[in-house]
Amino acid sequence: MDMTINPVNSLDCIIDVPGDKSISHRSVMIGAIADGVTDIENFLPGEDCLSTVGCIRQLGIEVKQISPTHLQVKGKGREGLSEPENYMDAGNSGTTIRLLSGILAGQDFLSILTGDASIRRRPMARIAEPLRQMGAEIRGRSAGRFAPLAIQGGHLQGIDYRTPVASAQIKSAVLLAGLFADGETAVTEPAPSRDHTEKMLQAFGADIQADGLRTVVKASSLTARQVVVPGDISSAAFFLVAGAIIPGSRITVRNVGLNLTRTGILDVLEEMGASISIGNRRENSGELIGDITVAGQGLKGVVIGGDLIPRLIDEIPVLAVAAAVAEGKTTIKDATELKVKESNRLRAIATELTRLGADISETDDGLIINGRRNFNGAVCNSYHDHRIAMACALMALRASGQTVVQGAECIDISFPGFQKTLGSLYI
Ligand code: S3P
Repeated sequence: MDMTINPVNSLDCIIDVPGDKSISHRSVMIGAIADGVTDIENFLPGEDCLSTVGCIRQLGIEVKQISPTHLQVKGKGREGLSEPENYMDAGNSGTTIRLLSGILAGQDFLSILTGDASIRRRPMARIAEPLRQMGAEIRGRSAGRFAPLAIQGGHLQGIDYRTPVASAQIKSAVLLAGLFADGETAVTEPAPSRDHTEKMLQAFGADIQADGLRTVVKASSLTARQVVVPGDISSAAFFLVAGAIIPGSRITVRNVGLNLTRTGILDVLEEMGASISIGNRRENSGELIGDITVAGQGLKGVVIGGDLIPRLIDEIPVLAVAAAVAEGKTTIKDATELKVKESNRLRAIATELTRLGADISETDDGLIINGRRNFNGAVCNSYHDHRIAMACALMALRASGQTVVQGAECIDISFPGFQKTLGSLYI
């Protein structure tokens, strides 16, 4: 599907974004192994989360869909999953395949997990290795490094694991397996990654303790509870950047998750010179929520790297757009993980923003962007990567003439309704 975008002069609006992808996945998976019914409000009905629902149903769990955003997961407890009759399809979703592998490592049956062409290229040794150390048998293509993965789970032993990269998917896979292991399972990360798994496990009654970069979990039974999913800050990011790059604009995104492991985008936009305020702060299901308002004024280039990277890992494509219009140079470093996302995001964003007139080049571990004032409409490729498609659409708001984003249907992976929300900016 082609999406056509025209430039916009100034914005003044209040919008909502769909539920958080990471929290939606976790609510279904953790609900499935809890005792009782987990009621999930504001669930993200994006393709990735629907892949998780499909896999969980194949494991014998009833997931009732009251509406597209309201689900009820009829959990069967720690020993309630049953062997699927067929392989399970994670689609485009790294969170589905990696977190579910952790749960399946603890099950005394065979599971086969696969996904689309992008998932079958993404590294799986990072979760297979620690899960094998715990006692699961995991086979995959290329000596166990790529999906499809065949997992024969069973009797697990706790381990003390140091993740080589700051990745919530690795950390979560090991912690979820730890729920089924003998003894303690500890994970230490090089920098803090998103902690939604830890927060949700705690809310569901697991024996889990975090101390700085180290988290320890013990075998636990979970009890179902209600989850109200906050708006996804990674989806809000596109509109926050829209407010920041169109001079004289003001945009408010309501009910957005403000978990500190996810708010790097706000810190960077503020450092670049955008004015940001947060209202209506509150807490729900252990997660902070608020309304974020951004006012557009001149941005300046910054350096983004180190421990900040995991706090804005999914926002780098859209931050590159902010940097493209900022005055001066922006350096993004320590971001090699971007090469193994849904696409090679460093390459994809550098190539596509260049088409739109940006001065951006790829480095070994990031991007160098020299801000410019003028951009031109162009035909852009999505690489079937939702965040690349949406970042190109954002840059198009500042370009003269029309931009076409090809393959824009992938946006439904994380942000169904994006085009409609974008359209509302012109009114
Ligand atoms: C996610 C973690 C991040 C992120 C992904 C969702 C999660 O991946 O990029 O979109 O829900 O745990 P890594 O943990 O592999 O960096």
